[in-house]
Amino acid sequence: MKMSMAQFSTNMAASMSRLPFDGYFLYRLTRWKRISQSALCIPTCVYERQFLQTSQNSQHLFTKKFSTKPSSEVKSLDILGNTYITDLSTNITPKILEMIGKNLHCKHNHPLNLISRRIENYFNNNFRNSWRAPMFSKFDRISPVVTLTQNFDSLLVPPHHPSRDLSESYYLNSTHMLRAHTSAHQSDLIKTGLDAFLVLGDVYRRDTVDASHYPVFHQMEGVRLFSKQELFSHVEDASKVTFFEEGTRNSTKQERHAVETSLSLEQDLKKTLRNLANHLFGEDVEMQWVDAYFPFTHPSWELEIKYQGEWLEVLGCGIIEQELLTAAGADSKVGWAFGLGLERLAMRLYSIPDIRLFWSEDSKFLNQFNVDEPDTKVTFKPFSKQSPCINDVSFWVPENFSENDFYDIVRNVGGDLVESVELFDDFVHPKTQRRSKAYHMTYCHMERSLTQSEVNDIHKNIMEEAIRQLGIQVR
Ligand code: DAH
Repeated sequence: MKMSMAQFSTNMAASMSRLPFDGYFLYRLTRWKRISQSALCIPTCVYERQFLQTSQNSQHLFTKKFSTKPSSEVKSLDILGNTYITDLSTNITPKILEMIGKNLHCKHNHPLNLISRRIENYFNNNFRNSWRAPMFSKFDRISPVVTLTQNFDSLLVPPHHPSRDLSESYYLNSTHMLRAHTSAHQSDLIKTGLDAFLVLGDVYRRDTVDASHYPVFHQMEGVRLFSKQELFSHVEDASKVTFFEEGTRNSTKQERHAVETSLSLEQDLKKTLRNLANHLFGEDVEMQWVDAYFPFTHPSWELEIKYQGEWLEVLGCGIIEQELLTAAGADSKVGWAFGLGLERLAMRLYSIPDIRLFWSEDSKFLNQFNVDEPDTKVTFKPFSKQSPCINDVSFWVPENFSENDFYDIVRNVGGDLVESVELFDDFVHPKTQRRSKAYHMTYCHMERSLTQSEVNDIHKNIMEEAIRQLGIQVR
């Protein structure tokens, strides 16, 4: 049923009075640390390497000891049929190269596939075009190798944003990287003329080692664009409503969006995602919107749900920056976008306690998710988890030590046998000014028991590699 202009304006005024204005906006520049790693050779020598390190306000070159640089005989990487010439930015590790192309989200009896299908069903059943066909096109096989332009520039990520640091992402070279988020495909897909799409895929970030962080995880991106007619289809005389204006930007809207445009988009976005959360977590789930910052949307929010007594962030979303749409050739439209982490949702929905399990090929794990109907309630039953072995280690670190370099060595050498690496002591010696770090390193196999001597060997190899590559000194 169409709304009259008067009703429409009253609704808008009511919504605006509920919204906070300037000053409330939360700027979180380093939101890359969350639930959000090569045909490359295993390092052979400690290598003096120049890193272009960017920080929020400054950009500086510094020299760093790093040895994952290919030795002289390895100059290129072959990934999914393409060859990439390595250079000083290359930091991808063999362990990460092994994981590319596994497409877990496409495997039939995999929890990531189950949850993806559940979300897709929600969109297909609730959003149809005028021919009654599903409105959202799905892309689940786009290569994770993207250009820095796709991952950052097309999304208006500022040149010195910390997410561009080499310590945050996996670079093939100075022009190509493994996507750090599925948002990297937004601009290209909009350029093809699509108005509504979902992108599913593996994303890669250098990160800590624990039960909820893994250097590869999976995301789903959603984008919906509207023409003026579509956005105001519920208004009787849509031609009288202002769509674009040359106004000012404030916390609730962009300069080119009329107030009505921004609020209609917000309402549509929030309704779509609230219903999605209800579809996944049930009608009674408690939710809250938290203001957020993303370079490619404004305003932006995170949706949190109350889960077992705690607020859990489930997705990021917002109104697409008009500048992004203009660059992608869709300037006459406006739109919203969202991105969610599939592991994070699946761990809660199916009670999966450790993110490493998603990589298990054990039928005891996979068979539990072998259901045809994605809405079937599945609760994971743990099998044979062995008691962990903990080894503590403390060492002096050189200047420019990056935690993520250490975590990559742990993952590369220890693989999935390392359950977590937890920093428990960090101090600077008052006389020598040397910095010491101490970690609890927990080893545990998901499927079989480990012997202490097996653990000791792996631990020794990790530490030898860290000494060789990073120049640490065990205390
Ligand atoms: N790409 C963001 C991330 O990985 C998530 C995200 C936030 C995606 C807002 C979006 C969005 O499309 O509008 O943290």
